[in-house]
Amino acid sequence: MLRHAGSPDLYTRRLHLRAYRPEDYRQMFDNWAGDPEVTRFLSWGPHANAEITRQLVAMWVEGYQSPTVYRWGIERDGELIGDISVTRWREEEESCEIGYCLCRRYWGQGLMTEALNRVLIFLMETVGFHRVALCHDVQNPASGRVMQKCGLRLEGVARHERKRRDGSWMDVAHYAILSEDRR
Ligand SMILES: CC(C)(COP(=O)(O)OP(=O)(O)OC[C@H]1O[C@@H](n2cnc3c(N)ncnc32)[C@H](O)[C@@H]1OP(=O)(O)O)[C@@H](O)C(=O)NCCC(=O)NCCS
Repeated sequence: MLRHAGSPDLYTRRLHLRAYRPEDYRQMFDNWAGDPEVTRFLSWGPHANAEITRQLVAMWVEGYQSPTVYRWGIERDGELIGDISVTRWREEEESCEIGYCLCRRYWGQGLMTEALNRVLIFLMETVGFHRVALCHDVQNPASGRVMQKCGLRLEGVARHERKRRDGSWMDVAHYAILSEDRR
């Protein structure tokens, strides 16, 4: 039985994970949503303008009325630099999937590993998820490395599971962690 708790403030050594506010759209657009390099391996392309980001953030802010919404902006020294969110969850199976992205200027400093570790603790210990899964395009190994560093295990690679936005086939690496893996 899950104990849904919404998206409370979470802290790590260097980061503050927090719910979005309407005014965050500008930093979100400038720092990641408008950057084609960040969205290169994602299902969505870069936002064409900040108005698109503004509308999306407004929708997300409304969504926080539901305790089953798990969506955090990642803040470092007062600047919003990324996102980490539950993209799908199943009540019966007590399982969920996570997605994340980070402003390019901050890549390679261990920040997403720090954010994911904190979110896993919250989702598994506070909410009670039994299984948390993530996946990545095999051409994006940095994301897989984050998963490995957080203790997730590779469960398999699904060949040609998706199509990239350019129409090419994507092999998808699937990772997961179970509550018993953390003990
Ligand atoms: C993937 C992403 C979240 C990683 O965030 P990050 O804060 O840079 O990750 P970390 O610094 O915690 O760890 C990255 C690891 O990948 C490794 N890495 C980087 N580029 C790599 C590559 N081309 N091949 C293999 N490993 C690579 C780094 O060396 C590091 O591992 P290490 O600590 O063992 O040296 C970030 O690059 C990003 O936002 N990318 C764009 C969006 C995206 O791809 N999201 C994920 C979709 S599944």
